[in-house]
Amino acid sequence: MSEIKNRLTTTAGAPMPTNEHSQTAGPRGPLLLQDYQLLEKLAHQNRERIPERAVHANGWGLEGIFTVTHDITRYTRAKLFSEIGKTTDVLSRWSTVAGEQGAADAERDVRGFSLKFYTEEGNWDMVGNNTPVFFVRDAYKFPDFIRTQKRHPKTNLRSPEAMFDFWAAQPESVHQVTILMSDRGIPVNPSHMNGYGSHTFSFWNADGERFWVKLHFKTQQGHAHHTNAEAERLIGKTRENYQEDLYNMVNEGRFPKWTLFLQVMPEREAETVPYNPFDVTKVWPHADYPLIEVGELEMNRIPENYFQMVENAAYSPSNVVPGIGFSPDKMLQARIFSYADAHRYRLGTHYEALPANAPKAADVNHYHKDGSMRFFRNDTGNPDAYYEPNQYENAPVADPSVQEPPLTISGDADRYGNAQDVDDYTQPRALFNLFDDGQKQRLYENYAAAMGPVSKPVKERWYAVLAKVSAEYEAGVRAANDALDSDVNAVPVTDDTPVPAE
Ligand code: HEM
Repeated sequence: MSEIKNRLTTTAGAPMPTNEHSQTAGPRGPLLLQDYQLLEKLAHQNRERIPERAVHANGWGLEGIFTVTHDITRYTRAKLFSEIGKTTDVLSRWSTVAGEQGAADAERDVRGFSLKFYTEEGNWDMVGNNTPVFFVRDAYKFPDFIRTQKRHPKTNLRSPEAMFDFWAAQPESVHQVTILMSDRGIPVNPSHMNGYGSHTFSFWNADGERFWVKLHFKTQQGHAHHTNAEAERLIGKTRENYQEDLYNMVNEGRFPKWTLFLQVMPEREAETVPYNPFDVTKVWPHADYPLIEVGELEMNRIPENYFQMVENAAYSPSNVVPGIGFSPDKMLQARIFSYADAHRYRLGTHYEALPANAPKAADVNHYHKDGSMRFFRNDTGNPDAYYEPNQYENAPVADPSVQEPPLTISGDADRYGNAQDVDDYTQPRALFNLFDDGQKQRLYENYAAAMGPVSKPVKERWYAVLAKVSAEYEAGVRAANDALDSDVNAVPVTDDTPVPAE
């Protein structure tokens, strides 16, 4: 018999005589407890699943590259932006928010838009969405909001009643809900949607000047969306059209691309603009803060192993690099805690050392020790330097030159509710007024499809919110709901899919 070149082994490396037959006391059984390979095979199977993400569980990822095309060094000293032509490796993950793993890709939902930039000074994670705003402005409300998107504890079904009950009590959500119910609610696939950092972040330059920034990744493929009717037909054929589309695009060399733009606000201007520039339910007017071009993102590789690179990907807004920082946005501030905590639970203490998350270029030198699955080297390069400060010359020390400029904050510690003068309606009104007649009609009908099972009192509460945006908006949604109520056989959707105005 010819020599076997690639021998099957146990996890401990010993060659295996068979991978098909268990060890028994005779051909009819019973099994022998000493058949450790069978026990291990069954035990491994029992441990193949890890907890899915509490939100954004259903996702798709690619690897690619970011290239700087314009000089923004006057705003940030971040090394990845240091010169035109510079490239940085990126891992993307797009996702729906509510669906569990295996949910249909073409559901009406906000999409996550996560990018991990493996920069030479550590990983920068841009954990955004395909919308520039969010449903709530205070992190305290986030777990309740997500509960309304997930399953009812008794029926184990999604609950439109819970969704609209919650939104009606949070008028700040009407901006995001308008986007969700518009044509943009079901992108054809992630290549046809924009990505937004949504929050305000800070950039700081080599002179220690801080700027507030918003990030926009604009699709170069153009916006394209499915109507409800198209999505229903599609889901009848395949639940995995996003994974299929991305896989086929990259295999065929049609690499999806985005252009990164910034909006930039000088630090002090935040005190004088007539709105809270750190409120994630609001956009900054482009007339006041025009888009500044930065670079191009091209996603051009399918990860060799989905679980290793996409399921194990651990994105966190806490991952910033020198030149990029946070802002006072209280949603962003909570996310700084929440994601790393989620990863420790979902992936384990050393999630940052997994291949998807390990920094590529930076030296990784820290004094954190030991712990479960500490599978990488357990010292700083000098076994005596296991604490800090220490006497050793070659031991890692902090670099004061990467200190962020001080942030001036003044205020009384309190639990502030929504200020009375916060205007939750002008921006959604401006968005609604941009829609043409067809887009408005589909908006109404998408609402009717989503609100069908909602009780009359909750519907009325949501209509009251819409009325504050626009009487036309309220009347349109009410009429579409009434038409559906009076004709249970009506099909409240149209078939054409024009791209909404930018
Ligand atoms: C206080 C508000 C928020 C909290 C506490 C929160 C918390 C979380 C948690 C715990 C996860 C799961 C992480 C994991 O297990 O890997 C997650 C995922 C995610 N969240 Fe949030 N979130 C908040 C708001 C937002 C906002 C405003 C955005 C977008 C602007 C956003 C975008 C995402 C994305 C894209 C993912 C999926 C990341 C991935 O692809 O792995 N979240 N969020």
